[in-house]
Amino acid sequence: MDEALALHAGPQAKRTPFAPRKRHGELEKQYLNEVIDSDTLFYYFGTKVFELQKKFAEMYGRRYGIACSSGTAAVHIALGALELPPGSEVITSPITDMGTVTGMLYQGLIPVFADVDAETLNMDPRSVAQRITNRTRAIVAVHHAGLAVDVEALAALGLPVIEDCAQAFGCEYKGRLAGTFTPISTFSLNHFKHITCGSGGMVLTDDERLRYLATLFADKCYQREEGIRNPYFLAPNYQMTELQGAVALAQLRCVGEIAAARNRLGGRLSALLERIPGITPQAVPAGCKHSYFLYLFRLEREVLGCTVEEFSEALAAEGIPNDARTITGGRPVYLYDVFQKRSAFPGSDYPFSLTDRIYRPGDCPVAEAAFDSWITMNVYETYTDTDLEEIAAGVQKVAQYFAVRNLWTRTVSAGVAV
Ligand SMILES: Cc1ncc(COP(=O)(O)O)c(C=O)c1O
Repeated sequence: MDEALALHAGPQAKRTPFAPRKRHGELEKQYLNEVIDSDTLFYYFGTKVFELQKKFAEMYGRRYGIACSSGTAAVHIALGALELPPGSEVITSPITDMGTVTGMLYQGLIPVFADVDAETLNMDPRSVAQRITNRTRAIVAVHHAGLAVDVEALAALGLPVIEDCAQAFGCEYKGRLAGTFTPISTFSLNHFKHITCGSGGMVLTDDERLRYLATLFADKCYQREEGIRNPYFLAPNYQMTELQGAVALAQLRCVGEIAAARNRLGGRLSALLERIPGITPQAVPAGCKHSYFLYLFRLEREVLGCTVEEFSEALAAEGIPNDARTITGGRPVYLYDVFQKRSAFPGSDYPFSLTDRIYRPGDCPVAEAAFDSWITMNVYETYTDTDLEEIAAGVQKVAQYFAVRNLWTRTVSAGVAV
């Protein structure tokens, strides 16, 4: 391939437009109309949120679903249901959305970040084991990008585990859906997820006590089931409305198809990309079924000799949307100001003051290095084989350009040195 980069005024590798992706349709309209006709948007007087909870739980083969207003709320609710005392440490991933840790801080819990595996960017169970102290009370296991973390190895550490499945609809580990391995698991229905109701979340459990506590935690600790109003712990209002419930219920019908399509397309794209020198797709461990919330690949910097930003810019110019910063915005979560400045609650350094835990650059070297070498893209369920071929052609074109430039620079500098 000898064409100039699009960045240098050559033709774009993406020659045909991506197909439009329409996410909502007639069923959403029908359910929304039913809600409006019912004249109540409040979940407890309506039917849609209750039906969503039932169907969602059934889809995962779990007994109970507790709907809520976001994935952030869902993790907070799960932590609340586990009744962890303030000052407890909770181990999680440094490559995740802030929503994984927000609820920890509100509960006075101390997030502890374990390093990730260099090939998958999922939490490394060996690093998690090393971070356990006598204060550790739970693990929040993030299934990052739609690829299952080694949840059995994490569960074997003997602590309560919450699976954060916000990115992991339809993702499988050892032949079973992620979200079915631990006593309590959480999901997000925000705009970016496989399915969405604008903003929403779900907690799943088989345990009646966890269900009860989660239900209270999502709703100001009002004991609606007993007709009592006497809150006995602090709980926010994380209710899902009937409007969100209606859309989420309609969306459930296509989640299986979306995850299956992304699995197929992501697998195909990897088969195309892994042949390109300097490019390594995210590894999919045996027994895992990736549902590609995000598609990730790594640049072999010794081969390409470019920065991840240079590669990303050249690829975007080829008509291939991508991100050099991963979902955390270019740094691991513990390097956000809220941790570095201990400013969760301005005017105090609570909850960090409850322990002597300090967050420093270098805490998770593998995660930190990932920000210099990984590219993130979407592989939407609407992509065609042509889209995949053109994406692969674009990656190949950009990789080849940088590989040749790198070889040339090395040769010249070797020549000068001689
Ligand atoms: C892993 C993970 N956990 C939690 C959340 C928070 O979900 P929400 O945005 O619905 O609050 C997200 C959202 O991106 C996420 O990716």
